[in-house]
Amino acid sequence: MFDLIVKGGTLPDGRVPDIGITGTRITAVEALDGAEAGETLDATGNLVSPPFVDPHFHMDATLSYGTPRINQSGTLLEGIALWGELKQIATIDEMKARALSYCDWAVSMGLLAIRSHVDTCDPDLKGAQALIEVREAVRPYLDLQLVAFPQDGFYRDPQAEALTLRALDMGLDVVGGIPHFERTMADGTASVAALCRIAAERGLPIDLHCDETDDPNSRHIETLIAETLRHGLQGRATGSHLTSMHSMDNYYVSKLLPMMAEAEVACIPNPLINIVIQGRHDTFPKRRGLTRVKEMRAHGITVGWGQDCVLDPWYPLGTADMLDVAFMGLHVAQMTHPDDMRACFDMVTLENARIMGLDGYELAPGCMASLVVLDAGDPVEALRLRATRRAVIARGKIVAHTPAAEAQLDLPGRPARIQRRHCRP
Ligand code: FE2
Repeated sequence: MFDLIVKGGTLPDGRVPDIGITGTRITAVEALDGAEAGETLDATGNLVSPPFVDPHFHMDATLSYGTPRINQSGTLLEGIALWGELKQIATIDEMKARALSYCDWAVSMGLLAIRSHVDTCDPDLKGAQALIEVREAVRPYLDLQLVAFPQDGFYRDPQAEALTLRALDMGLDVVGGIPHFERTMADGTASVAALCRIAAERGLPIDLHCDETDDPNSRHIETLIAETLRHGLQGRATGSHLTSMHSMDNYYVSKLLPMMAEAEVACIPNPLINIVIQGRHDTFPKRRGLTRVKEMRAHGITVGWGQDCVLDPWYPLGTADMLDVAFMGLHVAQMTHPDDMRACFDMVTLENARIMGLDGYELAPGCMASLVVLDAGDPVEALRLRATRRAVIARGKIVAHTPAAEAQLDLPGRPARIQRRHCRP
C-alpha cells in the first residue's frame, strides 16, 4: 500500500517504471500493476524528472526591479551601486514578502532547492534575518541554502568581515565572497585565502562570486584552487561565474582546468546574466562572457547552471524556470549535440544538486519523494518546449499542477491543430 503512485511516466534515462511513494520517500521504482495506493497520478507519455535545483540566486534582491530606479548601463557595477541604494530602503518584511513570492514561482516550476547569496554588508543584516525566516517557512517543500555574501567586498567594506562572521553565527549555510570587487588584486587574493580558512574552520562549503569580469587578468580561481587544496575543501568549493576565463589565454587555461579538477572545485555559470552583463565595454566583436563549460566538463569538473537574478538591479526578466536557464546556456555554450543537450538537463537537476551537497535528489528507492511531471517526452523536448510542469511533488505531496498549454487555431480554409510534441527517431 503506497500513499501515492506516479504511473507510467518516462524517466530522463528512458525507463518507464511506476514510482511508489510512502510518506516523504520514494519506496519503489518498478512496475506496480495492481498495487494499492491512496492516490494515483497518471503520467503516461510525460517526462518524470528529479526536481529542478538552482545553485546560484539572490533572493534578497529578487522581484525588486525598478526600485528605486532601473540599471541604465546594464553593467555589473551599476547593478551593485543600485542594489546599494535599494538595501538602504528595503525592510525585513518587504524582503520576506518578495522572497516568499519568488519561492511560490519556483515551486510552480518544479524548482525545489535554491542556494541564495545574502548580502552581509548591511549593518543590520536585514537580508540574513529575512531569509532565515523564509528558509524556515519553506522548509516543508523547498530546500533553501543561504550564502553569507559580502557584496561590497570582504576587505573593501571595512565592516564586511565582522558582519559576514556574524551572519554565519546566525546560521547561514555557506561562505561567500567577491574577490574581483576588492580594491586590488592582492586584496582579492587575501580575501579568498581568508574565506577558505573560515569555511575550513567552520566546516562549511564555500561558493565565491569569482572573476565575474571580462578582464583576463582576474585569476582568483587560481587562488581558490590552491586554498581549497591547502584547507582540504575538495568537493565543497565552488567558483560562481568564472567569466574571465572566457577571455583568458588558452595556454594558461590548459594549466588551470586540470588543477580545478584535482581540487574538485565546481563551477556555476549563470548564462542569462553572463550574456547580458559581460561584454558591455566591448565594441565588436562582443564577447559572450560565458565560461568554458564544455571544456570543464571534458576535464571531469562538476558544472551546473544558475539563474542568479530575476527582476532585480541586474536583470529585468526571469521566471524561476531552470529550463530557461539551461536553454540559454545550451545556446551560448553551443551545446547542441544531443549528448550535450541531455547534459544541460542534468546540469539543472542532478549536477546542481551535487554542487549544493543535497542528498536524495534522484528518482530511486530511498530518495526524497520530490519530482516533476513535464509535458514532454524526454529531456531534450523539455528544453525545446520549456515544457509545462503538469505536476510538482515535494516530499510526497502534490504541491502544484498546471493544465497543458495548447493553442486553439481558427484558420480560414482548413481545420488545424497544434501538436508541438515531436517524437524523434
Ligand atoms: Fe550572483
